[in-house]
Amino acid sequence: MTRLVELEATGPRKLDPSDIDGEKGDVAICQCGLSESFPFCDGSHRRTEDEEPETTYVYEDGERNAVDRVVTVDDE
Ligand code: FES
Repeated sequence: MTRLVELEATGPRKLDPSDIDGEKGDVAICQCGLSESFPFCDGSHRRTEDEEPETTYVYEDGERNAVDRVVTVDDE
């Protein structure tokens, strides 16, 4: 599967000891791109568990849609 996500950050975020989960003792970094607490995992990746291979998904406004293709437009 492919998943398209929009991110607005333009640079890295440095982690510090306050980022460690007090209960689990670790830091979970989101790799699915859907977390509301990005760059940290908030469990939103569970929404991807039934994604089909070879399908492209767009997640927008809380909804998931499978798309045939993605067209981007350059504003410049
Ligand atoms: S990996 Fe993205 S929310 Fe968990």
